[in-house]
Amino acid sequence: MIRRYDFGTPIETGAVVSAPQPQAEPLPYFTLSRSDAALSFSLPLSPDEFIFGLGESVRGVNKRGYRYRSFNADESTHSEDRASLYASHNLLIFFGGTRLLGVFFDDPGAVTFDLGYTRADEAVITSENGDLRVYLIEEDSLKAIVHAFRQLIGPSYIPPKWAFGYIQSRWGYKCEAEIRDVVRGHRERHIPLDGVCMDIDYMDAFKDFTVSAERFPDLPALCEDMRGEHIRLIPIIDAGVKQEDGYDVCDEGLEKGYFCTKEDGSPFIGAVWPGRSFFPDFLREDVRAWFGAQYARLTDAGIEGFWNDMNEPALFYTPEGLEAAIAEAESMRGRNAGLDDFFHLRSVFSHIAGNPADYRSFYQQAPDGLRVRHDRVHNLYGAMMTRAAGEGMQAHEPDRRHLFFSRSSYIGAHRYGGVWQGDNKSWWSHLLLNLKMMPSLNMCGFLYTGADLGGFGCNTTEDLLLRWLQLGVFTPLMRNHAALNTRDQEIYRFGMQEDMKRVLSVRYALLPYLYSEFMKCALTDECMFRPLAFDYPQDNTACRTEDQMMLGSECMIAPVYEQNARGRHVYLPEAMLMIRLRSAEDYDLIPMDRGHHFIDLALGEFPLFVRRGCFIPFARSAEWVEAVDGTNLTLLGWLSGDAAYALYDDDGISTQVSLEAGLTPIRVRVADGQAAASGEGLTLYADKLVLD
Ligand code: GLC
Repeated sequence: MIRRYDFGTPIETGAVVSAPQPQAEPLPYFTLSRSDAALSFSLPLSPDEFIFGLGESVRGVNKRGYRYRSFNADESTHSEDRASLYASHNLLIFFGGTRLLGVFFDDPGAVTFDLGYTRADEAVITSENGDLRVYLIEEDSLKAIVHAFRQLIGPSYIPPKWAFGYIQSRWGYKCEAEIRDVVRGHRERHIPLDGVCMDIDYMDAFKDFTVSAERFPDLPALCEDMRGEHIRLIPIIDAGVKQEDGYDVCDEGLEKGYFCTKEDGSPFIGAVWPGRSFFPDFLREDVRAWFGAQYARLTDAGIEGFWNDMNEPALFYTPEGLEAAIAEAESMRGRNAGLDDFFHLRSVFSHIAGNPADYRSFYQQAPDGLRVRHDRVHNLYGAMMTRAAGEGMQAHEPDRRHLFFSRSSYIGAHRYGGVWQGDNKSWWSHLLLNLKMMPSLNMCGFLYTGADLGGFGCNTTEDLLLRWLQLGVFTPLMRNHAALNTRDQEIYRFGMQEDMKRVLSVRYALLPYLYSEFMKCALTDECMFRPLAFDYPQDNTACRTEDQMMLGSECMIAPVYEQNARGRHVYLPEAMLMIRLRSAEDYDLIPMDRGHHFIDLALGEFPLFVRRGCFIPFARSAEWVEAVDGTNLTLLGWLSGDAAYALYDDDGISTQVSLEAGLTPIRVRVADGQAAASGEGLTLYADKLVLD
């Protein structure tokens, strides 16, 4: 059951697709208090209560014990003390206390979530503007709460199937020749690859929807050659539009008044990669239609996917802010700067980017037509950019799926694109953070997601990349991306490249299963990644386990996330078959009992656990998605009787998807110690099934 409560004058966010009527009665469970405009909702917490949700944020899957703030930020340090990352996913689920309760705070402005931080026994959620809708979701299980919530917010975005292939990226591929080298580097060594991202350097002077004539002289020909190699190019699009006379996107945006404005009505200017830039007012339908139509310039050249970036929006500075900072610094010229002066001077410049005052200095047009100060709708900016892109492509090529993933988001954007987890670092702790964000993002509707494998900032190490790929094998977005001036991070740069290649072979062998589970979750509003608490709510150890995740209906994963580890502790909430994987051809099948285990895992090895009584399909590996034969499947599992799996598949590109049309039942019959498998149109091998 979902109930809605309105406070103040809520701004339409587009998060919800079928809102129930607002309740007249007061909101139950929470105590309300006001302080100026801010409205706080407090809830006592019992000692063992868990709090799930909050999508993209630091720390644990259980969010209890810290204070988070929804205010999208270009935050390149995902350390434990960061309250905000790039996205606002204001869903909380209270579990394990005296109640089971989902709450969605639909508020596009700043919201703080003090979840047992100020007082360990109390959660206080504060909407800084006090204008919001609150949805209470009450069901009898965690899964049912998320399912009901997902129905409220509408279906998750579905990417093309090729987007489940391995993608190589780097901030710094500067020209066509470098992209061709990267592709050759993979193909020559038979390292699987389906896509290469084009970061900002493909553009002419960082201008959206332009291509540098000097460095990428013939993009259509390049795209065509790449398609011959079964590779898609995925260009980046940034939110800011360069201020430049004669640049048509800028000229048209100015002429039609499409950009965000300052209080006096003149266009707001902020600086990003190209320097001074304008920011399209994506809250407006006409602006979304205009910006969304621009993507066709690139799809017409053969591009099939994009990543939207800098859309919090990131602001390096405003001209006013920069001037003030320079003046401040100049006023200190000649001073003998000691403690106070020095730190003041440093903070003048370090606070110039993403300055809260700048977000209060410009305006957008809310869906009701009224002018609204940006900070009140800040968290919608990236979501609406993704919506512009998604709707633009739907209008341009309605029958085809396109790849979109965005850095910034709000719930609602999950209908138009995926997200990547932003600028992480080559830290082991960020491998674990990648794992922990997966279920939280899934709860909020973002199924197509993953982190920069190997880490974006800092120099990776080859064992970190190898272990991270072992997690990436399971994440729908599987992209290796690294920052400018960091160590080369393509697989073939490392001595352990053969191990890494073998890890990738598993991804392609698992593709029929991963795609099937992804699509079923997308089409039935379920989570592909779940904390163990979702499946074993009565098992306290399982509920407290945060470094293992349920994957699909049949599996559990438990990656190694510590340097020099040669194994790890795993808790099995029920008997499972461990598939200790080295490659698509080389693995051990080890039945294991419920309970605690230490599992030996050499550097090149990683486990996948399949619940007893279930099986998964495993294909022969391939070097690109289209080459995976999804009809020739080996079944892996541990059975003591008959079992079944419903395999979903489709053409991977058309937008007409249907669960009924895509499902093929696979049945295994076990008799006299023998297993026989059947499935229409499939060649199935049952000889690897472990029987007892
Ligand atoms: C931002 C993005 C990163 C990208 C860089 C350059 O930091 O998050 O992925 O490589 O900008 O475009």
